[in-house]
Amino acid sequence: MGSGWWWRLITAALTGILCFHGVCQAQIAPNYTFVHQATSAAPVSYYDYIIVGGGTSGCPLAATLSQNARVLLIERGGSPYGNQNITNLGSFSATLADTSPSSPSQRFISEDGVFNARARVLGGGSCLNAGFYTRAGTDYVKAAGWDGALVNQSYQWVEKVVAFEPPMLQWQSAFRNGLLEAGILPYNGFTYDHIYGTKVGGTIFDRDGHRHTAADLLKYANPKGLTVLLHATAQSILFRTEGKLRPRAHGVLFKDAAGVEHRAYLSKGSMNEIVLSAGALGSPQLLMLSGVGPAQHLRSHNIKVIFDQPLVGQGMADNPMNAVFTPSPIPVEISLIQVVGITRLGTYIEAASGSNFGSPPSATPRDFGMFSPQTGQFSVVPPKQRTPEAIAKATEAMKALSNEAFRGGFIIEKIIGPLSSGHLQLRNTNPEDNPSVTFNYFQKPEDLQRCVDGITVIEKVIQSKAFSKFRYPYLSLQALLNMTLNFPVNLLPKHGNGSTSLEQFCKDTVMTIWHYHGGCQLDRVVDRNYKVFGVDGLRVIDGSTFHDSPGTNPQATVMMLGRYMGVKILNERLGRKRSN
Ligand SMILES: Cc1cc2nc3c(=O)[nH]c(=O)nc-3n(C[C@H](O)[C@H](O)[C@H](O)COP(=O)(O)OP(=O)(O)OC[C@H]3O[C@@H](n4cnc5c(N)ncnc54)[C@H](O)[C@@H]3O)c2cc1C
Ligand SMILES: *[C@@H]1O[C@H](CO)[C@@H](O)[C@H](O)[C@H]1NC(C)=O
Ligand SMILES: *[C@@H]1O[C@H](CO)[C@@H](O)[C@H](O)[C@H]1NC(C)=O
Ligand SMILES: *[C@@H]1O[C@H](CO)[C@@H](O)[C@H](O)[C@H]1NC(C)=O
Ligand SMILES: *[C@@H]1O[C@H](CO)[C@@H](O)[C@H](O)[C@H]1NC(C)=O
Ligand SMILES: *[C@@H]1O[C@H](CO)[C@@H](O)[C@H](O)[C@H]1NC(C)=O
Repeated sequence: MGSGWWWRLITAALTGILCFHGVCQAQIAPNYTFVHQATSAAPVSYYDYIIVGGGTSGCPLAATLSQNARVLLIERGGSPYGNQNITNLGSFSATLADTSPSSPSQRFISEDGVFNARARVLGGGSCLNAGFYTRAGTDYVKAAGWDGALVNQSYQWVEKVVAFEPPMLQWQSAFRNGLLEAGILPYNGFTYDHIYGTKVGGTIFDRDGHRHTAADLLKYANPKGLTVLLHATAQSILFRTEGKLRPRAHGVLFKDAAGVEHRAYLSKGSMNEIVLSAGALGSPQLLMLSGVGPAQHLRSHNIKVIFDQPLVGQGMADNPMNAVFTPSPIPVEISLIQVVGITRLGTYIEAASGSNFGSPPSATPRDFGMFSPQTGQFSVVPPKQRTPEAIAKATEAMKALSNEAFRGGFIIEKIIGPLSSGHLQLRNTNPEDNPSVTFNYFQKPEDLQRCVDGITVIEKVIQSKAFSKFRYPYLSLQALLNMTLNFPVNLLPKHGNGSTSLEQFCKDTVMTIWHYHGGCQLDRVVDRNYKVFGVDGLRVIDGSTFHDSPGTNPQATVMMLGRYMGVKILNERLGRKRSN
């Protein structure tokens, strides 16, 4: 077995890995016969379900619905397959640093002044992210009103394809042991579960450092039931508004890469629906562009109001991330997130390591990095001062530093929640442009206290015995970083006189961990079945529905939700069919 060409092709079709004469080429595009460029689409077409956004939740949702219905999935970006920046762990920062219009990552800067990124590719944020895979806690599942058994089955469905146990090399192991020394107990070993203490979580990078994404979940699709269109940008949801009836969503207007308009409509059938899975920025933006949102705001952009809903765009939240860089006297492995300390202080501690901040081997040293200015992770000046000039200056300063200065790792903290939140507004009526977003980091004092407590834990980890070989003894570290004035990342905050408080350190060095959510929140914009209040035939299923970031990191739960709601919707559909 296993030597025939047919066997290799079948294996390749199933795994996306093609091997000839022992040489395997990973991540060859799976033979998805149902994926097409939107330019090839008919001007008008009909489906049972139209899903807008082929991201982290849209892909598992589409794969599931296709089992028993005709489904169209439209995604504004291209395919992730064959793009080494996406596939390779070491290239994490390359995509984030690429700000071209064709980049899988679209940069946005919140009104708070923090640089951020949103996905523009099939697979969504799972193609850009740091890979950490971990479930939501049982309390979170209860609060969302989800069925716990179906939640667990849905997580497992996802995990079979995209989740792996990380390798845990020396630096990550020292970090883990440091957390234990710092009292983040017990040690829970490798688990996807969300429980207090220190654990090794899952990752969507396999043992070869290759990324597996939500797009891989399309393997589950019924090819006869699914059409995926790439470079298809939804312009608006089309509503039927006859007489006094509630408005009903019945189609989507989208443009292909050549700017040509297409219309996809729901075929006849009362169960047929449109689902928005365009993410925490895209979904509220599209609702507003389609006339569902705060009436006055919509009118100010000459958008016809379908349903006045002031809560669309509200509850936008981004968990602040604060990071401390520890230069290492000895080489460290390149790693993204593998371990998390789940404290009882409302803060999660994670870490990543590498030389040159994890830049790809092929890149010019220090060109990019997980936390380098080019990716937008520029935290040595307060948010509002992160101007292009300041970033250029920091980039120049980095060039003058020795390589040793860049060997080490980042220990980061993310706070739970957060409690602080803001809002999203349209800047214009172009769906390709970013809306304006305000997150109000640390507006609530509890959030600030959690950050301060997290920094205190990070200090203990760095000072732990377990971590000692990966840090410079205090004095020589000072000597090495004599040039801290121009050092482009934050070291441990100074204590004592002449230094800023930890509160100020938190505010001044705040970055994003990209877990922003809200805008179409559960019980505010959508009901417990994720149906949009005030209109028929429309749901929102993605991270925009969250009140808090689930677990320590959200992607597992976002993918789970796509599968979970797909199963629920199909059950409703089949139940209704039987009773007819
Ligand atoms: C750099 C980075 C690192 C992260 N690290 C981690 C991590 O380690 N672990 C973790 O759990 N989470 C991590 N996250 C967060 C996680 O990836 C996101 O929370 C999750 O991907 C959000 O999923 P979503 O389905 O809500 O949105 P998305 O995955 O963003 O999907 C939305 C999709 O809709 C498409 N779209 C938007 N508008 C339109 C339109 N008008 N027409 C057509 N398509 C449209 C977009 O192109 C996109 O593909 C990270 C995120 C980023 C960006
Ligand atoms: C992919 O599938 C199509 C249709 O089934 C087939 O024509 C094509 O040869 C396949 N390609 C590969 C590389 O297997
Ligand atoms: C990979 O990233 C680099 C640096 O950002 C960029 O120049 C290049 O075009 C990217 N390659 C692909 C295939 O997207
Ligand atoms: C789901 O799994 C978690 C652990 O992963 C467990 O604690 C919980 O009881 C399970 N829920 C159900 C309803 O089976
Ligand atoms: C820092 O650099 C200055 C000037 O280059 C030097 O005089 C001083 O001794 C250095 N301090 C340390 C702690 O190495
Ligand atoms: C800081 O210095 C002032 C005097 O300049 C002193 O009163 C105060 O106690 C010092 N604080 C700390 C934390 O050392």
